[in-house]
Amino acid sequence: MSIAITRAETLKRKPDSDKLGFGQYFSDHMFLMNYDEGQGWHDARLVPYAPFLLEPAAMVFHYAQEVFEGLKAYRRADGGIQLFRPDMNIARMRVSCERLCIPPVDDALYLEAIKALVDLERDWVPSEPDTSLYLRPFIIATEPHIGVHASKSYIFAIIASPVGAYYSGGINPVKIYVETKDVRAVKGGMGHTKTGGNYAATLRAGKQVEKFGFSQVLWLDGIHRKYIEEVGAMNVFFRFGDEIATPALQGSILPGVTRDSCLAILRDWGLNVNERVIDAVELNHCDEAWGTGTAAVISPIGEISYDGRQISINNGQIGNLTQKLYDFLTGIQWGRVPDPFGWTVPVEQRTN
Ligand code: COI
Repeated sequence: MSIAITRAETLKRKPDSDKLGFGQYFSDHMFLMNYDEGQGWHDARLVPYAPFLLEPAAMVFHYAQEVFEGLKAYRRADGGIQLFRPDMNIARMRVSCERLCIPPVDDALYLEAIKALVDLERDWVPSEPDTSLYLRPFIIATEPHIGVHASKSYIFAIIASPVGAYYSGGINPVKIYVETKDVRAVKGGMGHTKTGGNYAATLRAGKQVEKFGFSQVLWLDGIHRKYIEEVGAMNVFFRFGDEIATPALQGSILPGVTRDSCLAILRDWGLNVNERVIDAVELNHCDEAWGTGTAAVISPIGEISYDGRQISINNGQIGNLTQKLYDFLTGIQWGRVPDPFGWTVPVEQRTN
């Protein structure tokens, strides 16, 4: 399927690269494609970024049948642009689609759509340190029908947003609150998928602790409320002496692309890395902690509040291993160091 291009008549003024924040600005164009039962996915196109016209009865508004992804396009020092492991996002969306009864998108067309959008929006990929063009692919159910069943029509869209650091403090250690009342997901549910409902479930706890200076909530398992799962916007890693541990994927945790990359790097460095069950009481003797995510990158954790106690991690400072990992991973992503894993994918200039 070829991708038709309709260019915007006027282009937006680009925001200053040092004031981007996260997810506030959107580029001039977006990718769209439609699905209709009997016809499959059709009409792949790049069009000016604009509001959708949807029926109020569109199923996404009522039953939250939607999936999304997040990946970034990085500006290298030589001016080139590259993606980081887009195949992982494409594969994960396939899993999310299967869980939510959404017809999957052809892998090759998906990658082509990402590349074509980034190529058209090259000027939107910022070059200030630690900035990138965040890409948000998503699929929503559009059939106007309020009976509960899988939709017969969908829109697949990719929008692009120039971003800086996800947390306003940049790479400064964040404070995390371990939530013991609300739960994010349980096995058999949708915790392993990237769907909006997983994030909606986290809003209340996040809002309650935000006013006390906590950036995020650390979620425990939904049954025992004692085993660590993830931080909603990030997976988590801990260093206990010479062991590095992250919660094992057991069906209720998002299989993060950055998580997988950190595991590969740490193992490549010959460190003792385990994916295992982590009891929240182990936080009491944790030497380093960090979150991993496409948006959050590697985000040091300086303090954890658990069961009424404030646990300071590495005296609230970024740990040596966290810093080393941050430098190496971001070095690969922005093309500052060689990529020994073959993770980066260049976006060649074609349309501009
Ligand atoms: C990402 O890291 O790309 C995500 O989708 C997390 C989101 C909550 C910003």
